[in-house]
Amino acid sequence: MKNFTTIVLAGGLGTRMKSPLPKVLHPVAGLPMIYRIITECKKAGSDQVRVVLGHGLSLVQQVIQPLNVQTFQQKEQLGTADAVKSADINTIEGLVMIVNGDHPLISAEDLQGLINTFDKRGLDLAVVSVKVKNPNQLGRIVRRNGTLQSIVEAKDASPEVLQISEINTGIYITHAKHLSALVPKIKNDNSKKEFYLTDIIELALGSQLKVDSLLSENENLAHGVNSQAELAQATAKAFARKSEKLMSEGVIFINPATSYVEDSVIVGPGTVIYPGVFLRGKTAIGPYSVIEPNSFISDSVIDDGVQIKMGSHLEQVIVKSKAQVGPYARLRPDTVIGSSAKVGNFVEMKKVNFGAGSKASHLTYLGDAEIGVDVNIGCGTITCNFAADEKKYKTIIKDRVFVGSDSQLVAPVIIHEDSIIASGSTITKDVPAGALAIARGRQENKDGMAKKFKKNKN
Ligand code: UD1
Ligand code: CA
Repeated sequence: MKNFTTIVLAGGLGTRMKSPLPKVLHPVAGLPMIYRIITECKKAGSDQVRVVLGHGLSLVQQVIQPLNVQTFQQKEQLGTADAVKSADINTIEGLVMIVNGDHPLISAEDLQGLINTFDKRGLDLAVVSVKVKNPNQLGRIVRRNGTLQSIVEAKDASPEVLQISEINTGIYITHAKHLSALVPKIKNDNSKKEFYLTDIIELALGSQLKVDSLLSENENLAHGVNSQAELAQATAKAFARKSEKLMSEGVIFINPATSYVEDSVIVGPGTVIYPGVFLRGKTAIGPYSVIEPNSFISDSVIDDGVQIKMGSHLEQVIVKSKAQVGPYARLRPDTVIGSSAKVGNFVEMKKVNFGAGSKASHLTYLGDAEIGVDVNIGCGTITCNFAADEKKYKTIIKDRVFVGSDSQLVAPVIIHEDSIIASGSTITKDVPAGALAIARGRQENKDGMAKKFKKNKN
């Protein structure tokens, strides 16, 4: 594989986004555009990635920090050629590729293919072009008798040039020495008074270099994002690409257009994904599971044969095989649901280890708790884990305990094996194994007394 340096242009203001967020930080299917493009450049084998930043520099630097790339500051946004100049081009050697930070659909395979074609054709400089239906504001590739002549920006184009459907993707490949020689010669005599990198084509032709466009049929290369509408289109395409890939691997979608699976998510074959499902981050789902409508799952591991019923919200949790969750369950970080366990409607858990085969079928809050196997948690049970000293305390419920409905377990407390908590109890002391704990007011029945309180005396 060829070594090459990439320059990513990401200094622009992004005025047309009308958003306070720097343009390249706008997310496409969960990942900021700039994060995507840098990751793909590195995957394509670019040994050095240089990112030119300007607007929102420190914020963008923070976001891309884990990617370990060099950043350069473009002090004033004087145009794409000026941005390239800011990347210290005299210190680059060998092959250079330039990409725009606002083309989030470009993939590593696309970039590799382009580098290989450039190399095979023995060119000095190439611009990557695509024929599109709506060229709008994109730069037009102007040819004479089929030979590349120049790139003309839409703003500076005549009506005839505007008819051209072949456009500049903003991807250029050349050798460092040509870049250093030509970029300083670019002037700003155009309608925007900016230094346009597109002018490099005419300059290179004038220096008798071998220049051509690499015409691609891949529309993803041409998808630039300059507005919220273009961002939403890119997001839709990224999600569609992911669901198509999953379907080709045997994942079942009821309607892929309304399910949102981020690129980083893994789903096993035979799993069914209903409409309105959102799968995010480091989520991994095994085979033969069912994820019902409007469930949101982020950074979680779901084993095989699991059923996540309608409207459930899961964050950083593990659900083991054949468990059932929901409808309308909320599982918060550091929760593990054991195999064949059942978590029913309106149940919330946080930092809970919920044993295999255990059940919490309705209206329950469990926090900071260890629950053994085959435990039954009755409707309306609450672990009182947060005390007035603002500290959290633990509830431990051992195997086969039966907790009757509407009980409060005031932590720290241990409920030992095979015991029973009577319904409506407020438990403040540990319960021995096999015991029945009752902690509620005794009932007294006063004969005939109801009449005294009723408005209607008969
Ligand atoms: C640019 C090209 C156009 C091409 C299109 C592809 C020029 C003059 N035009 O137009 O031919 O069809 O991309 O999407 O090159 N940037 C900086 N500093 C600046 C200006 C821009 O870093 O001073 C960065 C932006 O952040 C952006 C990229 O360069 O990532 C392109 O700039 P943008 O203003 O979006 O150019 P377009 O008008 O889209
Ligand atoms: Ca752009």
